[in-house]
Amino acid sequence: MAYPIVIHPNTILTTPARPIDSITDELLIFLDQMRETMIAHDGVGLAAPQVGKNISIALVELDEETGLFEMIDPEIIFRSGTCVDVEGCLSVPGVYGTVERSKEVTVRYFDREGVQYEVTASGYLARCFQHEIDHLEGILFLDKIIERIPQEDLEKYMEEHQND
Ligand code: CO
Repeated sequence: MAYPIVIHPNTILTTPARPIDSITDELLIFLDQMRETMIAHDGVGLAAPQVGKNISIALVELDEETGLFEMIDPEIIFRSGTCVDVEGCLSVPGVYGTVERSKEVTVRYFDREGVQYEVTASGYLARCFQHEIDHLEGILFLDKIIERIPQEDLEKYMEEHQND
């Protein structure tokens, strides 16, 4: 079952998410439904508040190479550098813009087995982690946009900046 996406403006998108107490069967089903929802909406990341649940869960699946990250209670424990690139968000349809993010981050989270992981990522994967973890803090990329990029100029922007 794919959930409908909560669209901005909605208070659930600007409210910090609650931490997870325990990994229940219900939560595991929810994780599967979040993935279905992310795929159905062609997203590379999804945070639980975006499907109306104010709990600290985020998924990132940028491409086949990096695979799926199902993150329970994720937190950024290390950052370095900065870089600017374009972002969009399923909850803010049609809006794209450049956002400054840390170039590299280390994220600590629990997986669905309750095992704690630390993953260090750079580039666009690091950007996705930061965007999704922002959602869990009630922060939208809208608040961080430096420059809006019109949808029709997206492809051109990507081509010009692919080697940044
Ligand atoms: Co988003």
